[in-house]
Amino acid sequence: MTDDPNLSAAYALQTPEDSRRLYARWAETYDAGFAEATGYVLHLQVASLFAEQGGSGPVLDVGAGTGLCGAALTAHGITPVDATDIAPEMLEVARGKKIYRTLFTGDILRGLDVADETYAGVVSSGTFTTGHVGPEALDEVMRVASSGGRITLSINAQHFAAQGFKGKLSALEPDIQGLTLTDVPIYAPGTTGDHAQDRACIASWIKR
Ligand SMILES: C[S@@+](CC[C@H](N)C(=O)[O-])C[C@H]1O[C@@H](n2cnc3c(N)ncnc32)[C@H](O)[C@@H]1O
Repeated sequence: MTDDPNLSAAYALQTPEDSRRLYARWAETYDAGFAEATGYVLHLQVASLFAEQGGSGPVLDVGAGTGLCGAALTAHGITPVDATDIAPEMLEVARGKKIYRTLFTGDILRGLDVADETYAGVVSSGTFTTGHVGPEALDEVMRVASSGGRITLSINAQHFAAQGFKGKLSALEPDIQGLTLTDVPIYAPGTTGDHAQDRACIASWIKR
């Protein structure tokens, strides 16, 4: 794989260490060079759905990156929001936006330094995707959410099908309620390029 900071490199990642390295290099240019340039809108849709479905703080933003989803949540009046990400360089960009209450480095696949049932909400945009985080992370997401808390995560549509998210969500059924699966575009209309038509499933549910 190339380690140039771009979407093709991101989809070619294989390990959490690959992610940490790539996003360390991408942090400074991610917002203007990727999100704005490609018409990335996934974070807006995750935040809107979380708000529409009655989500409330405190919220943990998993794979928060430069803080796009946190900013969108804040625009919906949802606070406080904490941020975690494997790449401290991404979190430093997010910190500068003064959106988050607390920011901490963590690998959702290894477990976060967070007590059980801490958060009334957990959100994630763009992190459950090819080469990044698979369904095995849902146990950790569930652990940090409080009973009655809302969890709203985007999952790249191809990744959803390829990595067995359906089976994992079925296995979680006794512990969740009100699951919705919403199909959304990742990029705004008019976007061009190899990934312009990519879609995501936003899975949203309440922890029993
Ligand atoms: C495509 S970016 C999305 C960032 C932000 N949520 C957004 O929507 O713009 C994916 C993020 O996931 C983070 N990431 C990748 N693997 C991770 C892991 N195992 N644990 C926590 N964060 C991870 C990356 O560092 C990166 O910031």
